[in-house]
Amino acid sequence: MQRLYWWVVLQWVVGVALSAPCAQRCDCLPKLLIVNCSSRQLSSVPAGVPDNTLSLNLTTFVGLLSHCNLSAAPYSPLHHLVYLRYLDLSYNPITIILSNLLGDLLRLQELHLVGTGLLRIEPGAFRNLAFFRFLDVSENRLVTLEESAFHSVAALEVLGLDGNPLACDCRLLWAMRRRPWLRFKGRSPTCATPVQVQGRTFADFTEAEIPRLFTCRQARILTRKPQDVRTDEGHTVLFFCAADGDPAPSIIWLNPKRSVLTGSGRIRTLANGTLEVRYAQVQDSGYYLCIASNAAGNDSVSVSLRVRGLPGKLNYFSDLVGGYLFFIFEVPNSLILERAVSLHLPPETQCLHGLPD
Ligand SMILES: *[C@@H]1O[C@H](CO)[C@@H](O)[C@H](O)[C@H]1NC(C)=O
Ligand SMILES: *[C@@H]1O[C@H](CO)[C@@H](O)[C@H](O)[C@H]1NC(C)=O
Ligand SMILES: *[C@@H]1O[C@H](CO)[C@@H](O)[C@H](O)[C@H]1NC(C)=O
Ligand SMILES: *[C@@H]1O[C@H](CO)[C@@H](O)[C@H](O)[C@H]1NC(C)=O
Ligand SMILES: *[C@@H]1O[C@H](CO)[C@@H](O)[C@H](O)[C@H]1NC(C)=O
Repeated sequence: MQRLYWWVVLQWVVGVALSAPCAQRCDCLPKLLIVNCSSRQLSSVPAGVPDNTLSLNLTTFVGLLSHCNLSAAPYSPLHHLVYLRYLDLSYNPITIILSNLLGDLLRLQELHLVGTGLLRIEPGAFRNLAFFRFLDVSENRLVTLEESAFHSVAALEVLGLDGNPLACDCRLLWAMRRRPWLRFKGRSPTCATPVQVQGRTFADFTEAEIPRLFTCRQARILTRKPQDVRTDEGHTVLFFCAADGDPAPSIIWLNPKRSVLTGSGRIRTLANGTLEVRYAQVQDSGYYLCIASNAAGNDSVSVSLRVRGLPGKLNYFSDLVGGYLFFIFEVPNSLILERAVSLHLPPETQCLHGLPD
């Protein structure tokens, strides 16, 4: 019902524009088209909107989508709107602004994201937005806002950042350095951490104390003891990687082919930074690299794994498929397929006689 209402409003606006007497239909569009769904509960932007607006050349398109109960930034319905200059997504439950997804809104100048419960703005979130001059992310749960989120902070004129639990460290140094050119909307932002600056506002700091206080400590790996593991295939191996730094570093592991290992699969990175290799296979052998990084820099250590094969036993191993682990054993004249239902249960065994080679 409410969706329908919003749709009707849009149709009406577009309809009025198109019904005006005019030879060249786009020339007679109003200079300003406002799509307003404020305070109507929508779970998503109706899919038809971008297609209709795409055929119109709008000098200025204003998107007012506040209080719409959108649970994610509506990237795909909006991405055609290369003429969009002003976007208000305030008071929708949007917690993350992802990297690179707003980049098609080439002319976006002003973005309002007040009170959305925003936790994180990823690096590259506003990449390509060369005219971006106004950002209001006040009354959220942001701990930081890194310079890498922007195409260029030189274009930014107004920043609303108050009402966030900010960590005043090197990640916000850019904003402090830009104080002569940057206007903070509303109240000056306040530091929530670290303790020595807790409660101080950005306006309080003198130029002289900024480089001393807005600092970070580079990520450093603590587990430096060499980890060289030799094992027989089928065993589970753990490699440790603990790091410290300020802000707390993130840890990734690279496999011998230098691709990043995720938190799932047979070889995975655990939440505490440990690398786990389950049912080690001969082809898992090689050097694995742990990289700890934070805003101040990174550190890495390499570990080695050598897995010995057991001839005539496990000849083929298939990774987790649809939640199951598969093993294929070869014995004279047949193959045995074992499907382990869970890693903690004894495998169900099935004999597949006479399989072709
Ligand atoms: C948008 O709609 C809301 C709710 O109906 C209304 O309060 C607001 O004034 C409208 N905004 C504009 C710019 O028309
Ligand atoms: C849209 O209109 C503007 C201003 O009239 C014009 O400069 C621009 O080239 C037009 N863009 C397209 C894609 O027609
Ligand atoms: C907002 O949307 C969620 C689902 O996305 C729904 O569960 C919730 O009831 C909606 N809230 C309101 C106020 O409509
Ligand atoms: C990380 O978690 C795994 C599994 O919970 C555990 O076996 C391992 O000891 C932990 N590593 C460290 C360094 O605490
Ligand atoms: C680690 O830091 C160096 C410069 O100190 C940088 O070139 C490299 O890209 C960083 N690597 C990662 C994975 O962050």
